[in-house]
Amino acid sequence: MPALAQEDAARYLRRHRLLFGDQLWLSGPSPLPPSARAASPPEQTQAGPLEAFRTEIKDCQNCPLGATRTKFVFGVGNPAADLVFVGEAPGAEEDRIGEPFVGRAGKLLDKMLAAIGLSRQDVYILNVLKCRPPGNRDPLPAEVSECEPYLQEQLRLLEPKLIVTLGRVAAQTLLREQASLKEMRSRTYEYAGIEVRTTYHPAALLRNPNWKAPAWEDFQKIRDRYRELTGQPPVA
Ligand code: URA
Repeated sequence: MPALAQEDAARYLRRHRLLFGDQLWLSGPSPLPPSARAASPPEQTQAGPLEAFRTEIKDCQNCPLGATRTKFVFGVGNPAADLVFVGEAPGAEEDRIGEPFVGRAGKLLDKMLAAIGLSRQDVYILNVLKCRPPGNRDPLPAEVSECEPYLQEQLRLLEPKLIVTLGRVAAQTLLREQASLKEMRSRTYEYAGIEVRTTYHPAALLRNPNWKAPAWEDFQKIRDRYRELTGQPPVA
């Protein structure tokens, strides 16, 4: 098998495992005798490694935010997504519901996704911090370093083709970069071999509508690159 086809097959199998766990079901006649076959395929809800990882870390008390959170906010979306968005930390609504970007900033993110032909079900959305900093203050460096291994493991399991960081904190954390967001937006980065682009945080766009036009430019570039990376034709 050529190296590229082998890589694609390995990637497909890793994705299948993320969604359906360790059992592989093939179409066509079974090579096994009837006695060796299971009665029916497993439920598609069978936990994959990402779900197993959620279970492993959801009761985390590694930093003081564990004591003040309502819900642990792991992430949401399609575990096989090629595009992953990384935000900063849960706000009040996210803390209450247990899902990232469900408040006002989240509604705007949904609209921006829709504008590039995507929905939450097409992508995966997570945050640098899994618990809400009280009063929505910026994450403290100690909180970021405690939580970062979780983000790293999530990205390792998700294995997307493109990561988009939302806002300064996510960009600086993931990219180990002290440059301003303005400078970072004009560059393409790499994280563990995955391409990374940066853009504004939707909450910043709500505070400063002047940034909506440059954010839309970013999203069009994100759409074009995502389509390129996933072998889809460019938008006319
Ligand atoms: N802001 C973030 O960075 N993440 C959320 O989940 C909500 C608001």
